[in-house]
Amino acid sequence: METIKPEILKEHARKASTFSHSPFSNYPVGAALLTEEGSIFRGCNIESSSYGLSVCAERNAIAAAVVNGHKKFKALAIYSNNGATPCGACRQVIWDICGDIPIYIFTKDGEFEQYRSKDLLPFPFDDSKLIKESDQ
Ligand code: THU
Repeated sequence: METIKPEILKEHARKASTFSHSPFSNYPVGAALLTEEGSIFRGCNIESSSYGLSVCAERNAIAAAVVNGHKKFKALAIYSNNGATPCGACRQVIWDICGDIPIYIFTKDGEFEQYRSKDLLPFPFDDSKLIKESDQ
């Protein structure tokens, strides 16, 4: 399969950020998640008047992909005005659902940084720590 360039994912994440519902923070974020098959799922942050119920762009992109039957992922792009990196909760969910993938961070001014999810969440808790039924 042809590799998709980070710039293509950036455009999807940028577009997603335009749909952000962020009246409380005024901080729009968009995310674009590339599946192993080459499809792209978008997410934006959606805030709630009960602030703690707000959901980040990254987790909404992951939910969009998972609900459409995707389980394997190749890369995640995040677009914001000034280069948001994933919050702690998102780092956990990215690790749980996507494993060790590249994460591309874009700003509106065209700055670009690249990380790996493994490096963003050192010493992770994950399903390898959970006791499986077969171990009991
Ligand atoms: N936010 C994201 O959607 N992704 C990030 O990587 C950082 C933060 C959202 C959460 C909240 O709606 C707003 O940005 C300000 O924190």
